[in-house]
Amino acid sequence: PVVRLADYRPSDYLIDRVELDVRLHPTETRVTATLALRPNPAGIPGAPLVLDGDDLVLLAISLDGGETAPGAVAVTPRALTLHQPPQRPFVLAIETKLDPTANTKLMGLYRSNGVYCTQCEADGFRRITYFLDRPDVLAVYTTRIEADRDEAPVLLGNGNPVESGSAGGNRHYAVWHDPHPKPAYLFALVGGRLGRVASRFTTMEGREVEIAVWVEPGKEGRAGYALDAVARSMAWDERAFGRAYDLDVFNVVAVSDFNMGAMENKGLNIFNDKYVLASPDTATDADYANIEAIIAHEYFHNWSGNRVTCRDWFQLCLKEGLTVFRDQEFSSDERSRPVHRIAEVRTLRARQFPEDAGPLAHPVRPQAYREINNFYTATVYEKGAEIVRMLRTLLGAEVFRRGMDRYFAACDGTAATVEDFLAAFTAESGRDLADFARWYAQAGTPTVAVEARHDGNAATYTLTFRQSLPAIATEATGGARPLPLVIPVALGLVAADGAAVEVRSDRVRDGVFVLDREEDSLVLAGLTTAPVPSLFRGFSAPVKVVQDLGDADRLVLLARDADPFNRWQAAQSLAMAVLTGRAAGRETGASGAALAGALAAFLEAGALADPAFAALVLALPSETEIAQEIGRDVDPDAIRAAREGLRAEIGTALAPRLDALRAALAEPAGTPFSPDAASAGRRALRNAALDLLAAADPARGAALAAAQVEEASNMTDRVAALAVLVPLTGETRERGFARFGAAYRDEPLVLDKWFALQATIPEPGTPERLRGLMRHEAFSLANPNRVRSLLGSFSLNNPTQFHRPDGAGYDLVAEVVLALDGTNPQVAARLLTAFGTWRMVEAGRRRQAERVLRSIAARPGLSPDVSDIAARSLGVR
Ligand code: ARG
Ligand code: ZN
Repeated sequence: PVVRLADYRPSDYLIDRVELDVRLHPTETRVTATLALRPNPAGIPGAPLVLDGDDLVLLAISLDGGETAPGAVAVTPRALTLHQPPQRPFVLAIETKLDPTANTKLMGLYRSNGVYCTQCEADGFRRITYFLDRPDVLAVYTTRIEADRDEAPVLLGNGNPVESGSAGGNRHYAVWHDPHPKPAYLFALVGGRLGRVASRFTTMEGREVEIAVWVEPGKEGRAGYALDAVARSMAWDERAFGRAYDLDVFNVVAVSDFNMGAMENKGLNIFNDKYVLASPDTATDADYANIEAIIAHEYFHNWSGNRVTCRDWFQLCLKEGLTVFRDQEFSSDERSRPVHRIAEVRTLRARQFPEDAGPLAHPVRPQAYREINNFYTATVYEKGAEIVRMLRTLLGAEVFRRGMDRYFAACDGTAATVEDFLAAFTAESGRDLADFARWYAQAGTPTVAVEARHDGNAATYTLTFRQSLPAIATEATGGARPLPLVIPVALGLVAADGAAVEVRSDRVRDGVFVLDREEDSLVLAGLTTAPVPSLFRGFSAPVKVVQDLGDADRLVLLARDADPFNRWQAAQSLAMAVLTGRAAGRETGASGAALAGALAAFLEAGALADPAFAALVLALPSETEIAQEIGRDVDPDAIRAAREGLRAEIGTALAPRLDALRAALAEPAGTPFSPDAASAGRRALRNAALDLLAAADPARGAALAAAQVEEASNMTDRVAALAVLVPLTGETRERGFARFGAAYRDEPLVLDKWFALQATIPEPGTPERLRGLMRHEAFSLANPNRVRSLLGSFSLNNPTQFHRPDGAGYDLVAEVVLALDGTNPQVAARLLTAFGTWRMVEAGRRRQAERVLRSIAARPGLSPDVSDIAARSLGVR
């Protein structure tokens, strides 16, 4: 069944209060839900009440404390229908029975490593009790949790703790009350043996909050960074958005089996342990950065998501795009803004652009879905965040902030829409945002082509912008031609000698020109010589830019642009031209040397001033990005060959400088590890240097990397060295991996890195190697992190082998998708999205991919999750 935005109707009934009594048991948990219902004035009078269910077993039901009349209620595992509900407030009490141990989908109430936990977004609450499981039904919850004291000494719920005590025998209970009305998807409970670290935070409103992070006992020493990140997030949201926390406790719980990254349940965030646990010996700098970002993300949802929630799931970007924007701003403030911006854009280009260019493309606000869990995508999250950022660029930071305040004030306690969000900014700015709103409705990455013309006599410099949008037929647009988008172009001018040149035009305000029609020309005055244009500074819009800029101009930007993002972009563009040329068999030997020369000059000019930035400048575009740039009939082997060749050339040309950098960046023995951004930046540059040196001289690189794997004093350097070994076939690599695997045999999150790196070995034996690793004692298809590290990493980060010409890579992933579909369809469907780029590869591989996709689609009894992805990938809508 397809759900359509156009069909939205308010619920016929509302639920004001929910009392839940949950008696935890490994296989027979009993739940009594007492619901205070009433007819919705906005609904249809006298309509039947249809409560959602999923896999539920009903034990008892009562209406206003009495029995229901025979025939009054119809019950299936998927729905409970009350044919003629009272047309006044009434109380329904429902008892259900569930088996948390058998819940392998990890939706609803399940057990992870013996810990009871829940995941209710998007539609998991209906696996706990019959309910109006839709985000526009907001209720106040009181939850009583009861369990065996030995099995679950810790019992956590939403809101504030109210009371706890003995429940007779070995049983005990706790009651939690959440005063803030919320939709069912924000419900959570946890019960288990957990250790904790805790601290206090006083909000700007003077509220004393107890913050705690709960982890597997014995892992408390790895929870401190996450705890600190919570406090920093709370302080930042007060400073940056004026948002204070609104309960007396804030709990974060780490569990080891989790479908996604984390979940923003009110007052009780539940996390994939990968995004909580960190110690220098087990976590990399990237892990620390992710932990900080995701802790912030879930915390920020308390306002953008919880206090203001979504009317329906089509509005998912309302909370996710906005919250990603907010967590990106947080990380930018806590770390280096330019470095973080580059990281954001790399993610967008690596994950969202391919999605937007393939058969799974959809608008940031989709208009129809078969399975909502398949729409937690890079488009909704990452492109959604870019839309919010563009809004700020267009309105200016001050008006934007006032608009945000107005949005929170106007929509607090409600389930809102994208229209409500934009209305707040229209009210604050007086600007009509109807055209801007097209960003939410039209799928596909726009291309902006720019042509420049200098007129020496008139002293004018004219930039002509032309936007083109892929015509993607979606429910939102039908087959209609896409309409022009409102595209903020942040720009500046640089003189050939690197000096900044004034931009003289009243169409450029605060450095931003707004392109809001298909084609427009910007005439800049007072320019007797042609400047070098620096366009889309800071990546001011999620577009592809086609600009006929010569190498000389790019070199000027790399060396001298005031905008660090465009300095980095200049290096990327120079490299991309060489790489796409070579992958297509056009020899561009000279420009490879020119690039190496430019990078040498860049290093000379002082890489040590900002090592994190320098590391990014040295990194070539990924194979995935190159494939995107080529766009069709892609040959992953040719791309890899071109990229490896260029890496070796650059490594050779820069070798003495890279050695010097490594020496300069070496930490004196005994330096204590610090995960701060500056220290991480030095490690990144030192390891980038090692990577290039190994490309230039594999034998020496292997020796250096093997030594670093053994001797590193932290996991960042150890894993970076192991990654350097990945393409270096031979005994050294195998020994390195074997020793690493043995050393961390009891550390699943570290073994995930080991699985993930082996999955990227660019050799034809890799699919077979992965089959072997799937039999490793630490591997389990039941754990989403293991699946993602082995198969997810393979399908996304090993293009030559995933797209192996004989189809062996596709077959491997398909087998795992099918093996998982019966137990965890969400993870299976997510894995299958790797096939989303299949139309882009050359004909032979395309045939193999299509064969595999068709065989999946033809499987009887597929989950809606997997069949939806398979059908859309094949172009069946
Ligand atoms: N709202 C969560 C977040 O922070 C994601 C939860 C998605 N879960 C799911 N089963 N679709 O982004
Ligand atoms: Zn989120």
